[in-house]
Amino acid sequence: MKISVSILSCKDKISGIKKINKTSADFLHIDFMDGKFTENKSLSIKEVKEINKISTKKLDIHLMVKRVKKYIKKFKSLNVDYMVFHIEAGKKKTKKLLKLIRSYNIKNGLAISPETDINELEEYITSIDMILLMSVTPGKGGQNFITESEERLLKIKELCQKYNVNPVISVDGGINNKTKDLVKDADMLVAGSYITNSDNYEESIKILKSIK
Ligand code: DX5
Ligand code: ZN
Repeated sequence: MKISVSILSCKDKISGIKKINKTSADFLHIDFMDGKFTENKSLSIKEVKEINKISTKKLDIHLMVKRVKKYIKKFKSLNVDYMVFHIEAGKKKTKKLLKLIRSYNIKNGLAISPETDINELEEYITSIDMILLMSVTPGKGGQNFITESEERLLKIKELCQKYNVNPVISVDGGINNKTKDLVKDADMLVAGSYITNSDNYEESIKILKSIK
């Protein structure tokens, strides 16, 4: 199981990143919120660029923004492996935006919020590298895992099988030692508060990596 660590709930982000650098985490998950798609704002563009300089892990950028193209362009030159935006934000431009990300040699992806029908992914399923299944409402860290996500994950898997494609399936929100096994069929888990509120990051990451 791959683990991407979110620093959203980290009070001191710089020291949090330095700690993550020393762990076996696979990615650093950047939750970027514009205060429009989500109520809250998270980081500034400048802060993301600073984080990029400090992190030795590749970035997995989760754009929770309305103006997707603007932020793809802002972050395209960073050390980013995955750039993911919301299917609810892309609307008619989704296909173009997915292509734009790949044109920068970055893997693309779509995030899907808990209230959105999984079948909406069907149209894009053959042109995406990652599906980010939201298991909480986007906007803040430390929320409880929504149990329906378990079923939604299986629906995504079925959809991928139908089209014979293998995008990375990542689950984001409320992941901890208790909820991880509910989503053991995922390829990657995004975890924030469970890791960054713990005394020993590596120990928590190892627990998440060890799926039954
Ligand atoms: C929610 C974010 C998540 C979240 C994860 O909008 O996309 O990445 O911060 O944090 P935890 O693990 O605390 O739910
Ligand atoms: Zn996220």
